[in-house]
Parts: sequence; C-alpha cells; structure tokens
Amino acid sequence: MIKCVKVYRRYASNVLALLKKHGLLNREYKVSHDKEYVYMPVIQGSDDEIRVVLRDFEYELVDCLPEKRRKHRDYGYIPSYDLLGDVVVVRENVLENISREQLVNTILDLHPNIKAIYIKEKTIDEFRLPKLKLLWGVEVGSVVVKEYGLLFKIMLGKVYYNKRLSEEHRRISIISGENEKIIDLFSGIGGFPIHIASMHKAFILANDLNPYAFVSIIDNILLNKKKLIGNIAVTRIDAREFTNFPSLKEYFDRLIANLPHKSIEYMYVYDYLLRKNGILHLYIIGKNLEDLLERISKYSDKWVLEKAAKVLDYAPYTYIYRVDLIKR
Ligand SMILES: C[S@@+](CC[C@H](N)C(=O)[O-])C[C@H]1O[C@@H](n2cnc3c(N)ncnc32)[C@H](O)[C@@H]1O
Repeated sequence: MIKCVKVYRRYASNVLALLKKHGLLNREYKVSHDKEYVYMPVIQGSDDEIRVVLRDFEYELVDCLPEKRRKHRDYGYIPSYDLLGDVVVVRENVLENISREQLVNTILDLHPNIKAIYIKEKTIDEFRLPKLKLLWGVEVGSVVVKEYGLLFKIMLGKVYYNKRLSEEHRRISIISGENEKIIDLFSGIGGFPIHIASMHKAFILANDLNPYAFVSIIDNILLNKKKLIGNIAVTRIDAREFTNFPSLKEYFDRLIANLPHKSIEYMYVYDYLLRKNGILHLYIIGKNLEDLLERISKYSDKWVLEKAAKVLDYAPYTYIYRVDLIKR
C-alpha cells in the first residue's frame, strides 16, 4: 500500500516543496486532492524523515491509492510535434525512433486533454495539403489556434498550415506600411493578411486557389473582425490569372509570394502586379543565398536585393528563405 502525506490545502505548496527538496515525494504517482486536503504520495519507509522535515506542519500519514504517472521521461526521447488546439500532429519519420505506443503515451503524458494524435505522412499536391492519419483519439474536423492573440480556424487535412510561420506573419506585418496596397498570392488560411490588417489600415488582397483555404480566410477574417483595422478582399483564382486584369497592373505596393517550391515560376506575375519600387517578399527553397540570387536573376534583371533571411529549415543544409526584392 502506498502512503500519502495528507495536509490541508493551505499548506500544500510548502509541504510539496519540502517533500521534493528532501527527495521524499514518490514521483511514480500523482498528487491528488479533495475539497479540504491534498494527498502527496511519499517514498516507502521514510516516515521518520518525514516527521523531521514536516515538523512545523499539521499533517497525517495515510494509506492511499494514488493514480500512477505515465513515465515519458524514462523513454529518453521526446519527439518533435505540433500542438494545434486540442490536436497533436507528429511527422511520420518520428516513428523511426519511437514505437507507436511510446509515442502515444509520451504525448498524452505531456498533453492529457488532447482529443487526437495524427501522423503526418506527407504533403500532397499543389495545395500543399498534409496527409493525416489518426494514431490515437477521435477524428477532429477543425481546430482553432492562436497567433499573437489572433485566432485561426484550420480544417485539418484540407488546408496548408504551419505554426512555425506565425513569427514570419508578424515580421511582415511589422514592416508593412499604413495605407499600403498589398497582395498575398498564396494566402493559405490568411495568416499574412490578417496579421497585417490587425496592425495597419492597409488594403490587402488575399488569394488562394484551394477552395477550403478560400473559405478559411473568410472564416478567419470573421473570427478576428474586432481586431482588424485594415480591409481584406478575398479571391480564389490561379495566381497566373492575375495577369488578365489590366486594372491590377502595377497596382500593388507589396506582394507576398509564399509558395516556396514554385514561387520562382511566377516572377512575371509579380512583375505585372507590383508598381515600380514595390516590394516582393519571395519565399523560396535553397542551400544558400548566392545560389538563389543567381536563379532569380535568370528570370529577370528587374529585381534589386533589399534583404534576405532564413525563415525555416527545410532539409539538411537546405532552407526556406525570404528574399526581399525591390522592383526597378
Ligand atoms: C505554403 S502555402 C501558403 C501558406 C500561407 N502563406 C501561410 O502563411 O500560412 C501555399 C498556398 O498556395 C496555394 N496555391 C498553390 N498553387 C496556387 C496557385 N497557382 N494560385 C493560387 N494559390 C495557389 C495553396 O493552396 C497553399 O494554400
């Protein structure tokens, strides 16, 4: 039988700290409580030591049946994962280092209230959709995540979302200006436009060809409408088609092109839409900046480098860069 130190709730934090400090807390079991008391499982045979350590407190040593802790620390490996609302998404390659059972136990130990754990098997087709397979829990259609106080609904498996881009959304919104006309050609669920509109009285055109992304941008504008001071218009057309709108020729001050695998194929579209001295934020995959600039220069000599930064790791020695270019 396990023994627990039973103390009034008002003493609990001090008593717990002392038991931990003296190595008397039995960490294999969970601390529990009722309305009046807290029950702290202690190491067997430590009654004398407890008496000395807790001499200033009113307590009882009682038999108890505490719940056992899951022991993720014993696995020696905590995989990388994304917590999206009440869902965890883990990349498939993580299963090379940990069994499915250990993975589930570890994640549940860290996040006991989640509804599902999904394995992301791959990213598919031009919409960059994650192929998700349920590993544990119940199927969840959508989750809501927070980025800098803004809310984003994500339809799992139906839209692209990467929580590691939240800082980038913020960075671009900080450098955007008041009253700018901005176009985000590959908007996903609206991360860049909504961040920008929350900071500036700008006009932003948010476009994405994926019908679920299009609906998500609208949902997310509505979710955040009280926080938005800028205006966002939403379209769902192939980015190439923008060259068919003469009224948009050289209309925009800033253009966001976040389609890293293919963004370079649309250089003529950016040229068409941006005014002279307009800024292009080109997200592109590469090993180093020199190589990228050479690739860009092959498309046109119109672009002058303003700045570049690594945004995300993509593969060993390969990164997603943001290259900021000014149109001559
Ligand atoms: C990398 S994701 C964008 C992520 C988004 N900017 C963010 O910050 O979360 C690329 C997006 O481009 C969209 N897309 C792909 N090809 C397209 C095209 N030809 N025209 C418009 N959108 C396209 C995809 O549906 C996808 O949502």
